[in-house]
Amino acid sequence: MTDFLEVKDLTMRFGGLVAVDSLSFKVAHGSIHGLIGPNGAGKTTTFNMISGFYTPTSGQVLLRGEDISGLQMHEVARRGVVRTFQHSTLFAELTVLENALVGTHMPFRPNIFAAIIGWDKEDRSGAEARAKEALEFFGLDHVMHERAGDLSHGHQRALGMAVAYASHPDVVLLDEPFTGMNPEETRQMMDLMERLKADGITILIVEHDMQAIMGLCDNITCMSFGKFLAEGGPHEIRNHPAVIEAYLGGARHVA
Ligand SMILES: Nc1ncnc2c1ncn2[C@@H]1O[C@H](COP(=O)(O)OP(=O)(O)O)[C@@H](O)[C@H]1O
Ligand SMILES: [Mg+2]
Repeated sequence: MTDFLEVKDLTMRFGGLVAVDSLSFKVAHGSIHGLIGPNGAGKTTTFNMISGFYTPTSGQVLLRGEDISGLQMHEVARRGVVRTFQHSTLFAELTVLENALVGTHMPFRPNIFAAIIGWDKEDRSGAEARAKEALEFFGLDHVMHERAGDLSHGHQRALGMAVAYASHPDVVLLDEPFTGMNPEETRQMMDLMERLKADGITILIVEHDMQAIMGLCDNITCMSFGKFLAEGGPHEIRNHPAVIEAYLGGARHVA
């Protein structure tokens, strides 16, 4: 596996607060990479800088060696790095298929509504084939014509993944994908992630469910108070003194 996505000395300041402080780590192509750390560690802020939602105060996000930091979100998505749409950002009034169609155009146009309305026929049939393929991949083809808002919780999450998948991503960013899920839904979501990985997609995941993280990830980066704390495989991280200390609250006394 080669380094594919790299975060280098990444820093984000909000006024006087340094939310992410000179953070560096590398994600191998085709791997599932976990980003963990106590609440407020800076994980979501890091995701926001990688996806182009925030422009870093300093530092770089390198994709295949190209600096993508500071690009607009749709430009980052066009290069193959997408974050999943959580249930709150699904279009509840649209059908499952229409949601997936939005995904197929996500990387190319910043305004998805204009994208839908502005399609010519050829554009649309190609997109529809891709959208249906994504729904099939995630076992949602049988609910294709239902309103997204009427789906079960588990199906809505699967649709979030399908929307991302429909855009042909190289890297998928998942921020706490198991939140609010029961064990069965969590297990199904983990299966979906394994399927993405088997399809050659690189996954970067932030998650509190340690059992899921340990079961899924090839490599894990742990951060605390915006800074890099430790890195390694699940076994190594689970037994890392600094990680244990951070999670047990010892880190409260640091700094
Ligand atoms: N937009 C923002 N403006 C000001 N402070 C923020 C903003 N976003 C996050 N923070 C702060 O940055 C720190 C890291 O937050 P966050 O990245 O959400 O942590 P995590 O996802 O690891 O829980 C926290 O102290 C949080 O309050
Ligand atoms: Mg967060």
